[in-house]
Amino acid sequence: MKATAEAPANIAFIKYWGKADEHLRLPLNDSLSMNLSGAFTQTTVEFSEQYTRDEVHIIDATFSPEETARVSAGLDVIRTRAKCPFHARVVTKNTFPKGAGSAASASGFAALMTAGFAAANVSLPQKELTLFARLGSGSACRSIPSGFVVWEKGTSHETSYAYSLYDEHYWDLCDLLVIVDKRMKKVATSDGMRNVTTSPYLSSRLAAVPARLKRATEALARKDFAALGSVIEEDCLDMHRVMQTQVPPLPYWNEVTQTIMTAVPVWRTKGIPVYFTIDAGPNVHLICEEKDVSRVKAELTDISGIEEIIYNKVAKGARTISAHLF
Ligand code: PMV
Repeated sequence: MKATAEAPANIAFIKYWGKADEHLRLPLNDSLSMNLSGAFTQTTVEFSEQYTRDEVHIIDATFSPEETARVSAGLDVIRTRAKCPFHARVVTKNTFPKGAGSAASASGFAALMTAGFAAANVSLPQKELTLFARLGSGSACRSIPSGFVVWEKGTSHETSYAYSLYDEHYWDLCDLLVIVDKRMKKVATSDGMRNVTTSPYLSSRLAAVPARLKRATEALARKDFAALGSVIEEDCLDMHRVMQTQVPPLPYWNEVTQTIMTAVPVWRTKGIPVYFTIDAGPNVHLICEEKDVSRVKAELTDISGIEEIIYNKVAKGARTISAHLF
């Protein structure tokens, strides 16, 4: 009754911000992402009658009581589906800072669900696993399938699922995740999204996303990097405009974030095809093709305030692994 899983974080090219159903975590719009090879979570779950409560431990970090309760709620979903009567011990570790807008909840819940169902000896079709991962954290459903992934918003638990458009071998895109602040963000995404309807820009965003998603998937199909990159940046700025005009506003960027955002178009004029995107935090994802990684890294050496750069290729989705954490 013990299993371990590894799941990648993902970076959304077309982003999800706002829920149609808070409890089921149904999003207001479809989204598209790429799984990240260098930013991932490993989690071991053991269900056993020896545990009198759920024991949740994260290596080299801490969980707040709310986060521990969210993990237990995820375990409840597994227990109900698997008809498992036992409490669990969970040990988890990330290769990247948790809670700084670099998608630890996505890899975290994808790993928890994959390990948890395996520990409970239940083998689910991938589509169903994406539904359960979504209940833990919306974007976690995109960390289950491999490579480039679409999350259909759906209208019910069963219809809001994620699937792979192309696997991790399709195109050698890279994401340099530039960490400019390792600290926890002050407002969790779940809390921030609750106020999304107070932004006057939400309706124009929701109207624009379907065409943008179409442009992004067509650019992916053609491997047209400039077309993909420009729609990625456009959607990032659009989501942040909504965040920044919510009440209360969510200004996630810091000075280094903005320095990089200003520099990236200048680098493009110098012939380096690179585009930025940013989630709910100050850290910047620089998307480029493998052939341009060293030139982007060289440009980054001129910018002060960078704490770490995590290099990512396109990754496969969540899977069980044999090395347990306890
Ligand atoms: O699934 P959550 O609650 O971690 O929200 C993710 C929200 C963004 O990262 C900002 C956008 C996205 O689609 O990943």
